[in-house]
Amino acid sequence: MRIAVASDHAGFTMKEDIKNYLFELGHDVEDCGAYSGEKSADYPDWGIKAAETVASGKADRGILVCGTGVGMSITANKVKGVYAALCADEFTARLSREHNAANVLALGGRTTGADLARGIVKAWLGSEPEGGRHLARRQKIADYESRAEKIVQEE
Ligand code: RB5
Repeated sequence: MRIAVASDHAGFTMKEDIKNYLFELGHDVEDCGAYSGEKSADYPDWGIKAAETVASGKADRGILVCGTGVGMSITANKVKGVYAALCADEFTARLSREHNAANVLALGGRTTGADLARGIVKAWLGSEPEGGRHLARRQKIADYESRAEKIVQEE
């Protein structure tokens, strides 16, 4: 899989560790920045870049890290076609794929340990979206997105 990754300064160390882990697992990685953890880096600058990489199809999935994962998840969810899930445990990571088809994973570099983060990534990458009632629920979100976009265009 091709995976876009991004972080701010607070998520930089975890991003680098996740990158190494993704290479170990045999994935391709597109690093959308930040490229240093030394100076302050605003999460929207890098999160939007990675989320757009996923939305455009240039990457299959995205993994974004900031201090808590909150800023990155809010940012990524503003990009049409991106469904970002902030996960702090493996169970949520698995269900965020099976139920919600999340194509972006957000992690907290200051709130989640390195080993757990690797476990979350493994669970998330190893799970696929389920159909049935979960697909019907996801379709309601997609329908709302289309309706909302139409209303904005008409205004
Ligand atoms: C940076 O201090 C911090 O606000 C950021 O990494 C993130 O946690 C925001 O949601």
